[in-house]
Amino acid sequence: MVIYFSGTGNSYCVAKELAKKHNDKVVPLKHAVNDNSKHIIFVFPTYAVDIPPNVVEFIKNFEFKKNQKIMGVSVSGGNNGNCEHSFLKIIEARNLKVSKFKNIVMTDNSFSIMFGSKIKKIEVDLQTVALEFWTMKYNKRKAKYNMLYKLFYKFMFNPLGKKLLKKKVINDKCIGCKRCKKICPVNNIRIINGKAKIGNNCAECFGCIHWCPKQAIKISRTIKRADQYHNKNIKITEFNK
Ligand SMILES: Cc1cc2nc3c(=O)[nH]c(=O)nc-3n(C[C@H](O)[C@H](O)[C@H](O)COP(=O)(O)O)c2cc1C
Ligand code: SF4
Ligand code: SF4
Repeated sequence: MVIYFSGTGNSYCVAKELAKKHNDKVVPLKHAVNDNSKHIIFVFPTYAVDIPPNVVEFIKNFEFKKNQKIMGVSVSGGNNGNCEHSFLKIIEARNLKVSKFKNIVMTDNSFSIMFGSKIKKIEVDLQTVALEFWTMKYNKRKAKYNMLYKLFYKFMFNPLGKKLLKKKVINDKCIGCKRCKKICPVNNIRIINGKAKIGNNCAECFGCIHWCPKQAIKISRTIKRADQYHNKNIKITEFNK
């Protein structure tokens, strides 16, 4: 079973490719329940150089079955920081073992939204990535840890950091198309009186900002079409369903 968390589709694409070898099920985190699969593979993006907080909570509480092989894949825009170290810590705290961990660098979906930087598209040959993943010999001693990264993560996901990341809907632009609601990986968006309303359970994936056809969701700066990104190899109808 491959369990993914994804806002703009990169992690979902990786999950689908990894699942092919053993015909594993691909399930979004919000619907994932253990099913006695031989492997449990978690695929998630990197946020603030670590594992997204909701993914951490999910893995901490996931009911593993005996003898399941546990694997992790972080998808990053270039720096996955402490992801591997944190993954090992979470799994080993439960007296379980990590069989494999890999990082995959794909297009960054954060800088264009936060700072208006030009998106640098990174094309990845996922078949090769999957082959490398399934044939790799894992050495957990190579996992890195950086205390400054940990402090940054703590800041980003404390109430002040969360305030800086708060999403706003520009009602004049919103056409009530429900796209943001459909892709939100944590069901945090409702449509009320034809306008999107974002709840208090945001997982910071930026998916709603990227997928909105009217650039009606933003953090602080105004969003242009050129700031938006989603992985072109996925269809909205299959994603986070
Ligand atoms: C809030 C936020 C923080 C991020 N922080 C990092 C980071 O620290 N390092 C990094 O390499 N990429 C970072 N990214 C980029 C994503 O990890 C990357 O674009 C990933 O491919 C997105 O996966 P997805 O398409 O499955 O959502 C961040 C993205 C978001 C939304
Ligand atoms: S995707 Fe954009 S336009 Fe559509 S409902 Fe959401 S905010 Fe409104
Ligand atoms: S509200 Fe937007 S940014 Fe927050 S989790 Fe949902 S799609 Fe992602």
